[in-house]
Amino acid sequence: MYLGLDLGTSGLRAILTDAAGVVQAEAEAAFDVSHPQPGWSEQDPADWVRACKTTMAAIRQAAPEGFAALKAIGLSGHMHGATLVDAEDRVLRPCMLWNDTRSIHEAAALDATPGMREITGNIVFPGFTAPKLAWVKTHEPDIFDRIAKVLLPKDYLRLWLTGEHVSDLSDSAGTAWLDVGARTWSDDALNHGGMRHDQMPELAEGSEAGGQLRPQLLSDWGLSDPVIVAGGAGDNAAAACGIGALGEGTGFVSLGTSGVLMAGRDRYAPSPDSAVHSFCHAVPGLWYQMGVILAATDSLNWLSRALKESPADLSSALPEIATGPSQATFLPYLSGERTPHNDSAIRGALIGLDIATGRTDLTRAVMEGVAFALRDSADALKSTGARFDTLFAIGGGARSRFWLTTLANTLDLPLSVPKSGELGAALGAARLAICAHTGQDPASVMTPPAIAEVIQPDARLRQAYADAHQRYRALYPALAGLPKIAR
Ligand code: XUL
Repeated sequence: MYLGLDLGTSGLRAILTDAAGVVQAEAEAAFDVSHPQPGWSEQDPADWVRACKTTMAAIRQAAPEGFAALKAIGLSGHMHGATLVDAEDRVLRPCMLWNDTRSIHEAAALDATPGMREITGNIVFPGFTAPKLAWVKTHEPDIFDRIAKVLLPKDYLRLWLTGEHVSDLSDSAGTAWLDVGARTWSDDALNHGGMRHDQMPELAEGSEAGGQLRPQLLSDWGLSDPVIVAGGAGDNAAAACGIGALGEGTGFVSLGTSGVLMAGRDRYAPSPDSAVHSFCHAVPGLWYQMGVILAATDSLNWLSRALKESPADLSSALPEIATGPSQATFLPYLSGERTPHNDSAIRGALIGLDIATGRTDLTRAVMEGVAFALRDSADALKSTGARFDTLFAIGGGARSRFWLTTLANTLDLPLSVPKSGELGAALGAARLAICAHTGQDPASVMTPPAIAEVIQPDARLRQAYADAHQRYRALYPALAGLPKIAR
């Protein structure tokens, strides 16, 4: 039996699977994000440990025999967070998350440092880990001086599970301290960021062992055999493992809080200027690239708050299938944007409103705006040579058929909709645990799911969506040129 643990932004999900990756039990525990100041986004790592204890107890109760046969655990987690611990592994301050934008200036300075983009293969985005540490150095020097290790969120959970400081390459690629092509820490990138190599965890491939469960936990949880903890992965690489998106031609589009368009790559083909992310995959010898937009379902959530109607009600008022772009255009830059603009200061807009524009038109415009933003990511990814022969649609927003048909038309690509698309990163984590324990070839474990439906783009609407996307594209420079509102 194998466990996949996915540390998400809103909670921890645990699944227990057999050796074929078939789910035997699952459990979830929620936790909060705090925003003590505008642009700040933090979590208390103690909440992750509490959630881990809760989900383990629930899994043990649901499947006692299965849990007792546990052989390995795989970890997935939200990326880029900075968890700072001292020499006694005490947490020094709340973890600063992937969507924390306080280090805009530090990110710009690091990104402009000669060599950084070449080493890391990426823009140094404000959400990445290195600029967060530069911020701590300036604003919290007493804390900075006591940092013994910097751990990504899932790696802090691993520290609690194993007592070891280890990370995997797919997650470490999002720090801006890794030489992503060579798959090692870069002393130059660390120096530029004011950090030392000894403050970094050991590195493991995601599908290899990265430690063992502590004896105390073995005994607390009634386990007698040793339990391996696999390297694991950042959540997007783990989701790719869960859906079978490993090499060239396979990828996924995820409509979650953030939106992601991911493409598996057999080779390292960085393209920082396009604002595409180029990271190590969770298995040896592969990389992946992705465009990230910061507000996908978050845009619908925003509209839902403004109109005081649930996202499900807004969504169910739409027709089943998209029949052409709407008059109103929404730009989903509610939290700034990564791909393709790398612009933390930009904010969203609704353009083309009519006296007759109503709730349904607005919902449609919001979903289309997210699709247009993902089309921008598709264009950026294609410019690096990425292909989408099979593109899976995942994430909470993929439950809306209207959104999916809009997306298929906008991307002009068929979308494969899995029968059960919601296991995602937790299943990928469990699959990495299977590989670490059995030594099986990842390609034979990370297989694609059963497909419920392939949504084809409607050829008759191709031109209309392409024209609407061009109108959308033309609006960003106008917005970017507006005087900034002080926040
Ligand atoms: C990826 C990113 C997000 C987080 C969300 O670069 O920032 O997708 O991993 O969990």
